[in-house]
Amino acid sequence: MEKYPSPKATGMSGNNYTTAWQSPSNIALVKYWGKYPGQFPANPSISFTLDKSHTRTSVEADVERSGSLKVEFSYDGKPAPAFEDRIVKTLRNWEAHFPFLANSRLRINTVNSFPHSAGIASSASAMSALALCIGDIEARINGDSDENAFRKKASFIARLGSGSAARSVYPYAALWGASPGIPLSSDEYAIPLEGIAPVFKTFRDSILIVDPQKKEVSSSEGHALMEGHPFAPARFQQAEEHCLDLLDILKNEKLSDLVSLVEKEALTLHALMMSSSPGYLLMKGGTIEIIQRIRQFREQSGIPTCFTLDAGPNVHLLYPEKDESDVRMFIEQELQSFCKEAKVIHDRVGSGPSRIK
Ligand code: PMV
Repeated sequence: MEKYPSPKATGMSGNNYTTAWQSPSNIALVKYWGKYPGQFPANPSISFTLDKSHTRTSVEADVERSGSLKVEFSYDGKPAPAFEDRIVKTLRNWEAHFPFLANSRLRINTVNSFPHSAGIASSASAMSALALCIGDIEARINGDSDENAFRKKASFIARLGSGSAARSVYPYAALWGASPGIPLSSDEYAIPLEGIAPVFKTFRDSILIVDPQKKEVSSSEGHALMEGHPFAPARFQQAEEHCLDLLDILKNEKLSDLVSLVEKEALTLHALMMSSSPGYLLMKGGTIEIIQRIRQFREQSGIPTCFTLDAGPNVHLLYPEKDESDVRMFIEQELQSFCKEAKVIHDRVGSGPSRIK
């Protein structure tokens, strides 16, 4: 697998094109929470790109049929017609940007590295993998080989499918959302974060699965509740400041500042949910127990480990690679008992999507 393969490497015969991409999930450090129509974020966000938690998607396209878009979808090689409507809807939404889709028959197969019930949202990895495949086919049709334009368009298109997916197309860390003071930042697509300190490129993320069930309030409903939220203006301002601070932290390896910023972001996200109208609570008892133990462990060990949360009860424990054995022991001894069936996914920051040969 190549890291930034040229779109030219894709297979083709006649009007048929095939391609396959593996694309990871990501974990936000500064959270995107609140959006405007057109899937534009209310505030900028920054995430680490993950590695092991990924989706692998292949697309076979017959692109010059007359008629309309047709999709056959399978999950892990088994037909999954129940998902076809949602995928057709996503692809129709992409037709304005990929005109070839309107006349195409697509065979799409996808598989996640993590089970559906793992409590990890698959939309970022799934939407980015599909966007990379469709973008790759377009680049072949047009004979384009501009790598930066290819990534930017994949990020743009992934965003239309699921906002946070925009950040998954880049290695290590990405920023999405127009940010005063951050050149090239955009609400339309994410940009890769250049120049982050080496320690962060191998950072670990152990995902503690407190509850794998589908959450009671979806992210879409949560974003919508930010409209008219009394704390929204202050929150959006804070997120902009946190993005600037985090860039400095990531470039200059300020580990203790990372810890306080990341935990403040996670708790702010959940505080916004609790103070929405209606308010709701996605943390479980186990989430709180884990958070308290992490803070105690950090105090006692001096290891710069911290937690973050996405819109659910599961805890992401972030720490440097060099502390892996101590943190793993801590997880086994003190945290795993709060996880459903002792489930922990040991992931890490990764080098981004890659084409599957
Ligand atoms: O991309 P969505 O609509 O699933 O929203 C993601 C929201 C958070 O995971 C809570 C934060 C983020 O920036 O990823």
